[in-house]
Amino acid sequence: MPCIFQDKNIVLGVCGGIAAYKIPELLRILVKQGASVKVIMTRNAEAFIGKVTFEALSGNPVCVSLFEEENQGAIRHIAWAQESDAVIIAPATANMIGKLANGIADDALSTFMLAVTSHRIICPAMNTNMYENRAVQRNMDILESDGLIILEPDAGELACGVTGAGRLPSPEYIADRLGKQLCKKDLFHQKILVSAGPTMEPIDPVRFISNHSSGKMGYAIAKAAEHRGADVTLVSGPTALRAPIGVHMIHVKTADEMAEAMFENMETSDIVIKVAAVADYKPNVQAEHKIKKKDEKLILQLDKNMDILKALGKRKTHQILVGFAAETQDLDTHAMEKLQEKNLDMIVGNIVGNSESGFGTDTNKVTLYFPDGKKKQFPTMVKDDVANILLDHIAEKVTVDAEN
Ligand code: PMT
Repeated sequence: MPCIFQDKNIVLGVCGGIAAYKIPELLRILVKQGASVKVIMTRNAEAFIGKVTFEALSGNPVCVSLFEEENQGAIRHIAWAQESDAVIIAPATANMIGKLANGIADDALSTFMLAVTSHRIICPAMNTNMYENRAVQRNMDILESDGLIILEPDAGELACGVTGAGRLPSPEYIADRLGKQLCKKDLFHQKILVSAGPTMEPIDPVRFISNHSSGKMGYAIAKAAEHRGADVTLVSGPTALRAPIGVHMIHVKTADEMAEAMFENMETSDIVIKVAAVADYKPNVQAEHKIKKKDEKLILQLDKNMDILKALGKRKTHQILVGFAAETQDLDTHAMEKLQEKNLDMIVGNIVGNSESGFGTDTNKVTLYFPDGKKKQFPTMVKDDVANILLDHIAEKVTVDAEN
């Protein structure tokens, strides 16, 4: 499955605000992910950033006026409106918001907006008092009721020296929310519980037993599910990753903590996906103080951790329960054994311990196994794509279960 932005036509509207300096980075992110981006700037935006920057980064002509002869601006803005999969205005000034709310079309961007029917996202960025002004709030309410999406600005210190709401969110955040708009919503309102990352079993206050799970696979699933409309809770062991936007995070360290969080949230979940690499064993005592290295040999006694997924399989009622199998050999045999032993509806088998798939990698090579003995094998793909393929199969099962 291609990336969300692959071959998508995005129009980026840029107004005259100090935050315009963040927009080349947003454009770069979208282009890097495969989007074709066209930029329409207001005359005031040109006071903050040159159109050549956008032309160079997008590889497309930039529209500032409808009357640019060489670019046939007046005709082109209708074509861009018809072709666009989504439009994002960032930063959106109070002036532009007012014009859009009232159907005023007195420049290239506001005229273009009257012709657009695709997703429209508005990112206001301005001084806090201006943002909170009743007229601006009223105009934003109108835009929302007209079906446009308003991305709330961040709060913080603004360029004008005031501290409050009005900062343009980061380009990564804006791109993520745009991505969500472009996704199908086949998991709308499904409550999904995902576990990700490793667990860390303490030996003493400074040492622990763990594994190489980075959390990338589980976080990719949580992010993709949120984009597809699900209400996602992510139980995460220690990772270096940023929390996916819009996902409820529960941070844990040990297998026992992970078990508790999973059990607590299972009952209210519709779908449970257990991606975490749980440490199978833990030291049977945790030393209160740092163990001194005085002996040549140190023997640690380990206790087996609970198999959380197996316990979830026993408690399963209405949930769709999905596990992962990390194997270095005999994937088919071991994955099918785990599927049956843990009472799963699906298991994702991956061969681990190589540079393309498994722990720490950006890609994964998976096979899906089902209770009827069928399996589906996939080539190596980025983990975002693996996440979407897995969710496609889960969404299909949700539909079939709902019909029965
Ligand atoms: O995090 P990344 O770096 O992106 O790497 C992704 C991954 C390799 C960790 C992931 O794709 C994966 O394979 N996760 C499962 C890892 C694992 O523990 O596999 P397993 O075959 O040992 O366990 C089978 C299943 O039982 C898993 O769903 C696991 O979460 C669960 N389990 C295992 C042991 C235990 N005590 N409790 C469990 O719940």
